[in-house]
Amino acid sequence: MRRLDDPIDPSRILDDAGLRALYSYPPEPDRPWVRVNFVSSLDGAVAVDGRSGGLGTPADKKVFGMLRELAEVIVVGAGTARGENYGGARTSPALRERRAAAGLPEIAPIVVVTASGDLDPQMRLFTDTFVPPVVFTSARVPDSKRRALTDAGADVQVVADHEIDGATLVAALDGAGWRRVLCEGGPRLFGTLIADGSVDELCLTLAPMLAAGSAGRIATAPVSAPTSMRREHLLADDDGTLLGRWVRSGNGERKLE
Ligand SMILES: NC(=O)c1ccc[n+]([C@@H]2O[C@H](COP(=O)([O-])OP(=O)(O)OC[C@H]3O[C@@H](n4cnc5c(N)ncnc54)[C@H](OP(=O)(O)O)[C@@H]3O)[C@@H](O)[C@H]2O)c1
Repeated sequence: MRRLDDPIDPSRILDDAGLRALYSYPPEPDRPWVRVNFVSSLDGAVAVDGRSGGLGTPADKKVFGMLRELAEVIVVGAGTARGENYGGARTSPALRERRAAAGLPEIAPIVVVTASGDLDPQMRLFTDTFVPPVVFTSARVPDSKRRALTDAGADVQVVADHEIDGATLVAALDGAGWRRVLCEGGPRLFGTLIADGSVDELCLTLAPMLAAGSAGRIATAPVSAPTSMRREHLLADDDGTLLGRWVRSGNGERKLE
């Protein structure tokens, strides 16, 4: 992978340290910094046959892993957790060591956002994880369903009456002490965060393929919410993958490392 807009040498191959530096969060954020990561086909599809895996290239997988490594917490909408059969974040002794040295919890927990609480306790989210998942949900979820998720090992937190808006989600993350936030979608959760002005940055991979199909875009919301973003970098892999990082305009005062 190379950085196309490298101010010194755009032909330089990025090593892990270089990549880590390019994706570092702002130093000591004083509130949750919401980073969102997506992969899309060139024609704008967010999935192939309902899953994003068909879009992943080696460079995308590399950056996906790096973003997880740098995050304190991983946030995902329930549609994605269900559709992609999410499990807990993978780890290794070396990764745990690197995270601990960086002042991060050894394993980033997964937070699932769901108004309905419709999560199967047999999901990998509960059965294949090193740390308990967290469920941010609504007061409309019946007690019995909440109890089933708690019994399955989740930390269930009722944070809203119905839908969880961006400010409420960020406040809940802040309340838990999580500042380096990685949101892995999906499109509906991302749309809400955009509409509510709660997105600090987008990391977007453009996979070098066309997909057609009926999959939607990376964000959907009932309202339009134009939000200016400034490019931080653009990476390219030899297979044609492009990976960009954009930060919300006006976030310049929060200098990146
Ligand atoms: N290409 C990529 O990088 C990528 C990344 C992620 C997902 N995807 C794809 O996106 C598709 C899923 O799309 P999606 O829009 O359904 O994903 P989603 O946003 O993860 O899921 C929507 C569901 O999440 C919950 N939710 C989202 N926002 C909420 C909010 N503000 N408050 C309360 N609950 C909220 C609701 O769950 P309840 O119904 O339980 O209330 C809602 O039905 C899948 O095909 C997946 O593969 C692709």
